[in-house]
Amino acid sequence: MKQPIDSKQLRKAFGNFMTGVTIVTARCSDGAMVGFTANSFSSVSIDPPLLLVCLGNFLSSYDTFANCTHFAVNILAEDQKDIANIFVSYKGDRFAKVPHHLDLHGVPLIDGAAAQFSCTRYQALPVGDHCILIGEVNSFMHKDRAGLGYRAGQYSQIGLEGNAYQDAIERT
Ligand SMILES: Cc1cc2nc3c(=O)[nH]c(=O)nc-3n(C[C@H](O)[C@H](O)[C@H](O)COP(=O)(O)O)c2cc1C
Repeated sequence: MKQPIDSKQLRKAFGNFMTGVTIVTARCSDGAMVGFTANSFSSVSIDPPLLLVCLGNFLSSYDTFANCTHFAVNILAEDQKDIANIFVSYKGDRFAKVPHHLDLHGVPLIDGAAAQFSCTRYQALPVGDHCILIGEVNSFMHKDRAGLGYRAGQYSQIGLEGNAYQDAIERT
């Protein structure tokens, strides 16, 4: 038997999963830069190098991302909460407010991010009210910087937490 689904409660339940925060970026066919804040990022595969992000069909840039040939994922550092907010709600030119540079395909990369992945579209799967966009990583960089955390509608800094894996090893 299926439980009747209260979508507000389901969103809350999903939101209990602590994640990092990313900015996903691409370029429209007219050259305009687009980007939005996403916590649905996941690594998928090392060989081939694949990652995914889920695009809500409510995004103003949905068509650009669902049809793009290239995109990038920027994992925000813990001091980049303001950037996360700009890419959620600012309706003007988001990139005019945020230092960035371009990758080899002209896709914007956010300066100061903890990690960045420049991708070629591998697959895009429309599923329910989202589209799962899978990218093959062409190039990437990472810094020894803690990422911004997110849970239950709140940003958090998780950089000072212990190394769970290392702690477990030391206990055994
Ligand atoms: C922390 C956080 C994570 C989010 N993750 C996603 C996501 O993974 N996919 C998505 O489609 N929208 C996500 N959103 C919502 C979009 O960021 C937001 O609707 C979008 O920036 C609006 O952009 P637009 O005005 O261009 O449509 C998230 C919002 C926040 C605050």
